[in-house]
Amino acid sequence: MNQISPQDIARSLLRTYREFGVDEAISEEPTNWFEKSDLPAASTNDIAEKRLNTEPAHGDTGRQQSASRRPAPAPLSVDQAVGTARSVAAACKTLDELNNAIQNFDGCALKKTAKSTCIARGNPASKLLFIGEAPGRDEDMQGIPFVGRAGQLLDKMLASIDLDESSVYITNIVFWRPPGNRTPSVQEAQTCLPFTERQIELIEPHFIVLLGGAAAKLMYRTNEGIMRLRGKWKSCAINETSYPAIATLHPAYLLRTATAKRLAWRDLLTIRDKIDSLGAKD
Ligand code: URA
Repeated sequence: MNQISPQDIARSLLRTYREFGVDEAISEEPTNWFEKSDLPAASTNDIAEKRLNTEPAHGDTGRQQSASRRPAPAPLSVDQAVGTARSVAAACKTLDELNNAIQNFDGCALKKTAKSTCIARGNPASKLLFIGEAPGRDEDMQGIPFVGRAGQLLDKMLASIDLDESSVYITNIVFWRPPGNRTPSVQEAQTCLPFTERQIELIEPHFIVLLGGAAAKLMYRTNEGIMRLRGKWKSCAINETSYPAIATLHPAYLLRTATAKRLAWRDLLTIRDKIDSLGAKD
């Protein structure tokens, strides 16, 4: 009878992981999650951690290892995490302060599995704000939003209406990569929302472009689909101030659905018209 070698076992285990959707290791050392008796019973989507603003800035690869050796703190409810995010964000007077606050915020469950915090790309002084969905694998590796294939298409879309990284500021509704690139849950998006709203207040954009359904639904506070929301001027209301906004199709969707590019092109022309009309007012 053939003996099963340790290599066969390892290969089979890796195959199983791949079938489960595991596409990378997040730590050098394994964590026995069953030993963590104080972990929340509910799914991580429902839970935000209590360990808020107590850790050094993200990006340090030792973080997850040392965190796994510490006893896990009791979980905060999403409402508590949102409350904390709101007060931390409100205290920030500049984008730099806000970026630091986001880096140090541990209330969003996504941070546990992400390698890095991805906040924004582009020109912080720009008055054109683009908001996407969530960092993907490439963004997580580089710590910068929209640097993967979708980001490259976004750059081409911007170039088609004479914009580039120096003329826009680009962020996402969550700052950490959801495992397997799934859409962020409502709880994850709500937890990060106070930071996104504060970004908007500090930037005071002439208008906001919402990339895809997740960003549009969150910022317009609606359940309507992107096909209904896209292509028209609406507004995002934040603390009594209304900011003009337009939703368009997400570049990742356009990569999968080339026939939708004509709709996105129409939206881009609408955006260009708006920019030209702003220039005419100056
Ligand atoms: N998709 C997004 O919505 N944001 C990114 O940063 C990358 C891909």
